[in-house]
Amino acid sequence: MTDNIQPTFNPGKGAGEPVGIAILGHGTVGTEVLRLMSEHSDPLAHRIGGPLELKGVAVSDLSKDRAGVDPSLLTDDAMSLINRDDVDIVVEVIGGIDYPRELVLAALQAGKSVVTANKALVAAHADELAEAADAANVDLYFEAAVAAAIPVVSMLRRSLAGDQIERISGIVNGTTNFILDAMESTGASYEDALAEATRLGYAEADPTADVEGHDAASKAAILASLGFHTRVKFTDVYCEGISKITADDIAAARNAGFVIKLLAICERISDANGQEAVSARVHPTLVPREHPLASVNESYNAIFVEAEAAGRLMFYGNGAGGNPTASAVLGDLVGAARNKVHGGRAPGENTYANLPIADFGSVETRYHIDMEVEDRTGVLAEVSATFASRGISLKTVRQEESGEHARLIVVTHGALESDLAATVEELKRSPGVKAVDSVIRLF
Ligand code: HSE
Repeated sequence: MTDNIQPTFNPGKGAGEPVGIAILGHGTVGTEVLRLMSEHSDPLAHRIGGPLELKGVAVSDLSKDRAGVDPSLLTDDAMSLINRDDVDIVVEVIGGIDYPRELVLAALQAGKSVVTANKALVAAHADELAEAADAANVDLYFEAAVAAAIPVVSMLRRSLAGDQIERISGIVNGTTNFILDAMESTGASYEDALAEATRLGYAEADPTADVEGHDAASKAAILASLGFHTRVKFTDVYCEGISKITADDIAAARNAGFVIKLLAICERISDANGQEAVSARVHPTLVPREHPLASVNESYNAIFVEAEAAGRLMFYGNGAGGNPTASAVLGDLVGAARNKVHGGRAPGENTYANLPIADFGSVETRYHIDMEVEDRTGVLAEVSATFASRGISLKTVRQEESGEHARLIVVTHGALESDLAATVEELKRSPGVKAVDSVIRLF
């Protein structure tokens, strides 16, 4: 039963020995990591048991001004820096996928522990990175990849390692939370709220990764993998962003007692045959106003965990930005450096459960559907019959005047996503339904 459990012992260098660090990347996060390493070198050395020694900083453009960095430490040859004998730990804060993947794999294969803040890399390639770390018996840390300084990775890897996680629901993207909160609190349109997020520096010039949910989906893949001991990749995550949310959706949600949040939801589910599976999804979600996630405003992040023994836990804070991200990188650096000095390894990825990934259509969800219907006898019966034909039960139905048509707002009970999606398609073709204006899932 336990034959395939790997030994994790690693002999240390010994107390007081310096630990050589290579930093790959000198953007917002890299700059802050270097500042913290330098300003807190003494306390960090005490916490680790030996000093951190910066051996080099790899950058793409050597001609750029790098205030605060000793020019003799700068290089544009990241691979040579990684392979230096005096480098023990490589910190990857470049971003992107292919080039950092090459560097991180090379570092692990060369026996260097790696600390990365790169969610897209981990969500796409956790399998080969973890295998390389195991083969070389070194550490692979990535706390900063999910919600920056909110210690959610170590919470799943360590603090809740003895518990059974049932569900992890998170607001893990600050830009979209800022936009949705601005729409909610000021009545702004999506376009105006996005413009404000761009003006304030939350949204990037190309906001696609944030607003279409890709950034949150990478984080969902990482959370689901850790929480359910199963490899979940970015491509396994169902993903819908917030770009179609309108001011009318926000107002309708408010009237019904909800706020709209972009949630990453990772859960263990059982299908009709009792087969367990993992579901990971990102989509706009109606969260009841009284739920703790509903009060997470501005660009804050929060991760809500439901576990068998621990019950309900929530972790809240800044999920992005140079300083919070650097805090998480430094925490990982201290952990990896301690292991270099004293020996041993951090808990690595553990995918023993190897659960199947649930097809999104087989997940039970609930819909809030806002549609325009003809204002005539029998329309309500037609709409109800469409739901009933797939065995979908309605929780509430509200009708409002809306010009020459009527507005029908339906909230369903739980049903299979595939049945709900097919029902919406059928409603769109119904003679009495003029338009299905919005479909938003409930939490
Ligand atoms: N762009 C992300 C956010 C931070 O808005 O939360 C980096 O993942």
